[in-house]
Amino acid sequence: MTVYLVGAGPGDPGLLTLRGAELLRSADVVLYDRLVTSDVLRLARCDALCIDVGKRPGTDSPAADHRQDDIGRLLVEHGRKAAIVVRLKGGDPFVFGRGGEEIEILERAGIAWEIVPGVSSALGVPGAAGIPATYRGLASSVTIVTGQTRHAGESSGCGHEPDWEALARTGGTLVILMGMASRAAIAAALVDAGRGPDTPVAVIQNGTTAAQRTVCTTLAGLPDVDLGPPAVIVVGPVAGLGWRARGPDGSGG
Ligand SMILES: C[S@@+](CC[C@H](N)C(=O)[O-])C[C@H]1O[C@@H](n2cnc3c(N)ncnc32)[C@H](O)[C@@H]1O
Repeated sequence: MTVYLVGAGPGDPGLLTLRGAELLRSADVVLYDRLVTSDVLRLARCDALCIDVGKRPGTDSPAADHRQDDIGRLLVEHGRKAAIVVRLKGGDPFVFGRGGEEIEILERAGIAWEIVPGVSSALGVPGAAGIPATYRGLASSVTIVTGQTRHAGESSGCGHEPDWEALARTGGTLVILMGMASRAAIAAALVDAGRGPDTPVAVIQNGTTAAQRTVCTTLAGLPDVDLGPPAVIVVGPVAGLGWRARGPDGSGG
């Protein structure tokens, strides 16, 4: 009996790993997140028990923590009785996916586990839209950061806020996940820290799916981007490579 934490990739089922697809096809129980697309879920056995354990966007709150406790309980309950349990997570389980916390729960319960990495939206979504994370002469580093603040635009005071000043100083590419609600505050913080208001920005919503939308703008224009989650925000010169910023939506550039 093993619980497999499988990265589902950013949405397109073609980006699921072979190992992930094989496990999904043989799982007795599948516990899946909100961002896992129905195209990926369709690979599960038709008699598998599939449970939606998704949290709603912006619920990184004490109430959401209770939900995470429920997920832990379900993992242990099914991990003790089913032969193959797949815990299916959007992107990669270890990139803002609370995969580490779930492994700790399984360890404490003495349940065998395995990680199957996935293509994270942080690199996969800009990549599929034609935006390279690094580019010789333009960006020699890439930093993946959460844009989620306890209250959008305000410091949570909990010491977990990204250090936007330090991030601005790297001069490299910033890939911001969960940042749409706080986009105005993030743009202001980066400009205050010295990044030019004309720094190129790309916002990609529903990346790698048929609903993908891409908007190319600047830090000054980021607050006006009218796209909801899930979206990846790319900040830096690579976002200005207009010859590449395209996707199934045909926009960008
Ligand atoms: C809780 S994080 C989980 C990240 C995930 N573990 C990963 O590696 O992609 C959720 C955030 O990932 C980003 N995201 C995930 N899938 C996406 C997609 N298909 N298109 C755009 N952004 C996506 C969004 O920023 C979303 O708010």
